[in-house]
Amino acid sequence: MSKEKLLPETGEDIHAYKDDEHKQEDDLEHTCLHISEVKLTPKISIKDLHRYTDSGDLILSEISLDISAGSVLGIIGPSGSGKSTLLRAINRLWEPPPASVFLDGKDITMLDVISVRRRVGMLFQLPALFDGTVADNLNYGPSLKKEKLSLEQMEELLKYADLDAAFLSKSVVGLSVGQSQRVALARTLANNPEVLLLDEPTSALDPVSAQNIEESILDLKMQRGLTIVLVSHSLKQVQRIADLVCVLVNGNIVEITSPSNLQHSTHPMVQKLLDAS
Ligand SMILES: Nc1ncnc2c1ncn2[C@@H]1O[C@H](COP(=O)(O)OP(=O)(O)OP(=O)(O)O)[C@@H](O)[C@H]1O
Ligand SMILES: [Mg+2]
Repeated sequence: MSKEKLLPETGEDIHAYKDDEHKQEDDLEHTCLHISEVKLTPKISIKDLHRYTDSGDLILSEISLDISAGSVLGIIGPSGSGKSTLLRAINRLWEPPPASVFLDGKDITMLDVISVRRRVGMLFQLPALFDGTVADNLNYGPSLKKEKLSLEQMEELLKYADLDAAFLSKSVVGLSVGQSQRVALARTLANNPEVLLLDEPTSALDPVSAQNIEESILDLKMQRGLTIVLVSHSLKQVQRIADLVCVLVNGNIVEITSPSNLQHSTHPMVQKLLDAS
């Protein structure tokens, strides 16, 4: 309908029309503001996160970082630097202090813990599977919500995890460590998480399978819009697939930069990691 047809004849109505026009402009402005606010809110925000052991030794020191929705953050650092502890805080496997980890702007300690773990899936460094078949393992999470995966859904999950569909009926007893690691990845994905925490997901895999998992990680980001935090000992792997790299040393972030900028870092540990890669 054109504006002319709507234009009323009396002054009163013109004001009413103008008010309506202003209201629409205000609504539009409000909507735009709302959209930009949503875009600006990081998927995960960490603010001054710290942790000490019971005996007072430092594990994590004042960690602050933002992870944008639909991005891959790579975390590297020497053994014992706090990488797994940091991941565990993001889905409350270790309970962080209040107001230090936020999911979509909400303090995760104020959210229902089960829903946080569904939304933020984690693949452990040493994953354990439940007794039964691979299909049983994939269906575990959905069954808690009284759902059952279709054959096509299970096959798709296995594909992401670089496993053949023939694995579905296999018992998990007797799987190799690398196969178990991949079943655990498919099981985590079966919960349809928004965020995926991967603790050295390719540590037990051969180079070809590791490359396939790297491609899956990129597919999950591009096709499903997942936000992914990847802990890896391989600097090259992180440089291949991460949008942002965080280097952790002795519980401190010593560098957060793009993979291509890492080579310009002057931190001695980053130089060591670069030399060793
Ligand atoms: N519950 C705990 N109690 C005491 N110390 C702990 C606890 N959890 C972790 N630590 C210590 O915190 C430090 C960091 O451990 P974390 O597992 O996060 O390191 P990491 O960077 O993942 O190492 P890796 O590369 O070997 O997996 C280690 O010194 C570890 O011993
Ligand atoms: Mg670890």
